[in-house]
Amino acid sequence: MTAERSVLPGRFSGLSIKLIATIIMVIFAVEIVVYLPSIANYRASWLDDRLRVGVVAARVLDAVPDVMALPRALTDRLLNSAGADAIVYRREGQSQLIELDNAVTPTVAVTADMRLRDPMTLIMGAVDTLLGGGGRTLRIVGEGDRDESLVELLMPERPLRYDLFTYSRDFFLISLIIAFITAAVLYLVVRWVFIMPVRRLTENMLAYRQAPENASLIITPSQRRDEIGIMERELAAMEQDLFSMLRQRRHLADLGLAVAKINHDLRNTLTSAQLLSDQVATLDDPKVQRLAPRLVTTLDKAIGFAQSVLDYGRESAAPPVPGPVDLRTLIEDAAFDARLVGHPGIAFVNGAPEGLSINVDAGQLARVFVNLLKNAREALESVTAFPTPPEVRVEVTQSEDGLVIAVTDNGPGLLPRARANLFVAFEGSARAGGTGLGLAIARELVEAHGGHLQWVEQSPGTRFEVSLPTSAILR
Ligand SMILES: Nc1ncnc2c1ncn2[C@@H]1O[C@H](COP(=O)(O)OP(=O)(O)OP(=O)(O)O)[C@@H](O)[C@H]1O
Ligand SMILES: [Mg+2]
Repeated sequence: MTAERSVLPGRFSGLSIKLIATIIMVIFAVEIVVYLPSIANYRASWLDDRLRVGVVAARVLDAVPDVMALPRALTDRLLNSAGADAIVYRREGQSQLIELDNAVTPTVAVTADMRLRDPMTLIMGAVDTLLGGGGRTLRIVGEGDRDESLVELLMPERPLRYDLFTYSRDFFLISLIIAFITAAVLYLVVRWVFIMPVRRLTENMLAYRQAPENASLIITPSQRRDEIGIMERELAAMEQDLFSMLRQRRHLADLGLAVAKINHDLRNTLTSAQLLSDQVATLDDPKVQRLAPRLVTTLDKAIGFAQSVLDYGRESAAPPVPGPVDLRTLIEDAAFDARLVGHPGIAFVNGAPEGLSINVDAGQLARVFVNLLKNAREALESVTAFPTPPEVRVEVTQSEDGLVIAVTDNGPGLLPRARANLFVAFEGSARAGGTGLGLAIARELVEAHGGHLQWVEQSPGTRFEVSLPTSAILR
């Protein structure tokens, strides 16, 4: 994790701001869907109100035989209360008209037929008034009281349009207030229920990562039963495990260091004892002559053990330093170190091609092959009767995936005891005097080169394969 990524976002960034923006956007989307039908309704009831006055006027016109006989004051009042310039009443093919004195003849008229009340027509009418209206004359048409009678009102469209705009503005303001109140309430709830606990988790993770050996930083889980509660408990368990693991590791490392020191001194002491026993072996006493070789071998073994434990500590610490190496020579040298070259009873076949150069840490890879070849030799030496002449063979195959170097022998094969803990340091040995480090070290060294070491079942004998990535091949 980089340093920048470790910084927590501010109060109004990150999750919170996304949340608020989303809520406001959703509320606005919903409001727009609600707005169109509601403005259509508003317009319809506005027109209905006007039409109702028109119907009252029609009733009056129905009652009198002659329109001209109506007093001017009455007709003007009727027209004014409808806000209309003129009212037309049609019945049985006849029409009667009352109008204001100063009525202007309409140029562009737009008809609002209130007999057509389907939602789409009403919405389109409202949109048309908002977008196109202004200077037009409005003709409102509706049914009168009587059968087959029609009432028409003529008036300027402007007052309707003005009212629609006022209504839209109020609608927008109320939407805005609702959106903000909802967003604020939701934000506070979500913040309290979700964001704050997540923040607490994040802060704890960041702090714990800085000092995982500080047990006081382990999160105390709340009693929540939801997913966040589970997350808190899991995190607490994970931090506790990590804490114990680190502590155990540190203790083991300390212990390892102590063992290495003791071992080092022990080896020196044993070496002095070896020198002494070498001298004792030169004495003429027949008893000494009989016991001395056993003493020398025992000391040899003890020194060998101490040495390999020391090597294990040293070896595993250093990363490989690759360089160009001739594979055939490397294997030949390893076979020599493993005392296979010139062995009286075992044939050794180096199958590595001439001139194959690889890019590896020569010392470390040689150690891998010395271990594998030594194991093969030891296995073959432990057997007395052979169906076929004992032989150790190294074969190299090159493919698109890289290089496979196989070390095979026709010996007794792996014992079940060895198979169970193969590659586990100090555990894998199944032979007297073995430390059980050879294969563990070999695997570690191969893996540090980006490759892997595995045991491949075969009968008779044993086969180990060292695979190296293509990047290790130079030619
Ligand atoms: N080629 C082989 N044939 C038969 N058994 C083998 C072979 N290679 C390894 N083993 C078995 O695997 C065990 C583990 O090998 P490993 O090299 O890890 O330890 P070791 O040889 O016992 O001790 P060390 O190599 O540390 O001195 C051996 O004890 C042996 O029993
Ligand atoms: Mg070994």
